[in-house]
Order: sequence, then structure tokens, then C-alpha cells
Amino acid sequence: MITDNFNRKINYLRISVTDKCNLRCLYCMPETGVKLFSHNEILSIEDILFFVKTASEIGVEKIRLTGGEPLIRKNIFHLISQIASLPKIKDISLTTNGVLLKDSAQQLLDSGIKRINISLDTLKRDKFLFITRRDLFDNVIEGISEAVKIGLNPLKINVVAIKNFNHNEVIDFVDFGIQNNLFIRFIEFMPFGNSHDLRFISKRELIDILQSKYSLIEEPSSDLNSPSKNYKISGTENVVGFISPMTEHFCKNCNRLRVTSNGEIKTCLFSDKSYNLSDAIKKHDKDYLINKLTSVIKEKPEKHFLSINDYKFKKCQNEMSKIGG
Ligand code: 5AD
Ligand code: SF4
Repeated sequence: MITDNFNRKINYLRISVTDKCNLRCLYCMPETGVKLFSHNEILSIEDILFFVKTASEIGVEKIRLTGGEPLIRKNIFHLISQIASLPKIKDISLTTNGVLLKDSAQQLLDSGIKRINISLDTLKRDKFLFITRRDLFDNVIEGISEAVKIGLNPLKINVVAIKNFNHNEVIDFVDFGIQNNLFIRFIEFMPFGNSHDLRFISKRELIDILQSKYSLIEEPSSDLNSPSKNYKISGTENVVGFISPMTEHFCKNCNRLRVTSNGEIKTCLFSDKSYNLSDAIKKHDKDYLINKLTSVIKEKPEKHFLSINDYKFKKCQNEMSKIGG
């Protein structure tokens, strides 16, 4: 087990397996995309596996694969099954935009993933085209149906809440969740460098909208480390979640470490600090890596600086597509 300087147990690693994506979400990338890592910079599947194994030896137990879009990465299923078979890894999950999910859901399940998160910001085809700049809404909906059908459960849908774009779809999303047995989670929009001219809406405002139709009952948290606050929707068996990095910092319980597809370690999503450990990873230098990781974790900041009061002014320059949320 490893703890940081604020006594947080660091046991969760998010791995961005590629910086490529098949969508161009307005808040994430410009139309032309972002400058990508070169082939030489990217960690191989063996390198990633070596890294996970090493991290698991100092206490990492939970893995999430992200991107870009992780289902674009060649041999992703091989990587998943190898990670899933590591003795110290208790949990492996994946976050996808769902575009390629229809044809990969079964393979995901077979390779050892039980839980996936799907990012979807609207239930309207034309609005999907607007926000992602790609006309692939039907693919995502078919991907969700397939995942439900084969029993990937629980299935979480992450919705980035944006004022005047999807705030009037909050009730529709919750109804969609009830009908299809999905766990809908709204995420407060975070002002990253590429985040375009989109408008923030708070969890409080979203709850007010929802309460015009449903009563919400706060659920006791089953996982202290989860940033999501969950509410039972009265009269149903369903739950809706809110992740509110802007109005309720959850840094106090943060157990995360991140690694980008070129081997840079980030101890906080909002920090501009990163530690390039790719040489040691590529050389499979275990002792050096354990030493470095241990000291890097001790530098994890106590909390981030973004808040709703200054979000217009302090834009964080991190590229979400390289870190994977
Ligand atoms: N604010 C909030 N969420 C974001 N995501 C990407 N950029 C932002 C942002 N600026 C979300 C994606 C996905 C997850 C990986 O991060 O929509 O759900
Ligand atoms: Fe791709 Fe996710 Fe960025 Fe959208 S938010 S462009 S799906 S990486």
C-alpha cells in the first residue's frame, strides 16, 4: 500500500492508451485535431503491461483504460486480458465514446472487463453532430444497446452538462436511464484549454431541473473514493449521479494516478506538472520505476485550484484528449 503526503491511499491508476480519437468534441479538441504523439513516443502494449504490473506491486489495485478513444488502440483486448490476469489487480474498467462499441462489447466482456463508462452528451442526433462534429450518433446508441444486451452491468453513461446545450435534456436522460437500466451521471463542465466557448451549469441547477419531475433521495456512498454523489429516483429502482469537480471538490478522497500514452505520470488532472517516466518504462527498469513512482506520489498536490468563481479566468491548459478524463 502506498499513501501520499495527505494520507490518501493511492490505489487507482487511469491509463490513457492512445491520444487518438474518432470524435472531435467541441470541449476537447479543435476540428483539425491536436498534435498527436509519434509512434516512437507511444508505449507499447508490453510497456503498458509492465507499468501496470510494477504499479500493482506498490499498491495499485484498480485500473481504468481511457484515451483519446481506447477502442481505437490495436491489441486493446490482449492488453485487457493480460491486465485482468495480474494477481494484484482487483478491478479493470474502460471509458469509451461508444462509437466502436457495437462490434467490441462481447470482446470486452470476454477479455475481462465487466464495467464500462460511455460518454454521451445528448440524445438528439443533430446535437450529437454539433458537439462531436461527427455524425455517429446511431453507432453510439447501437453500441449502448449491444452492451446492455450482453450484460455489461452496471453500464454508466457520463454526460458533460453544458448550459444551453443539454441542460434541457436532463429529464430525458434520466428517463432514458430508467427505460434501459443505465446509470446516468452528469459531470460539471471543466474549463480546459481547448474547451471552446461552452457554458457551465452547476449540479445544483441540474438537480433543480430534475426535481420538477422526480424526487431525489441522496444515497449513502458505497465507495468513498468515487467522485460521484448518487441519488435514488423515487418511485423507481434507478439511481442518478453527479460529479461536481467545480462546485464540490473531491480532492480529499482522491486515490488516483494517471499515465498518458507516452509514459508521463500525472498526479492531478488539473496540474500542469507531469513526470516523464517513459525511458524507465521502455527499459523495463523496475527498481528505478518503483523509486520514481514512490517519490512522484509524494508530490501529489492536496487539491486543485479551479472553482466556479474564477473558472472564466483560470483556464487549465491540460489536453483532456491526452489524459483521458
Ligand atoms: N469537462 C468535463 N468533462 C470532460 N470530459 C472531457 N472534457 C471535459 C471537460 N472539459 C469527459 C468526457 C468523458 C470523460 C473522459 O471526460 O466527456 O466523459
Ligand atoms: Fe474524443 Fe473523448 Fe475528446 Fe470527445 S471528449 S474528442 S470522445 S477524447
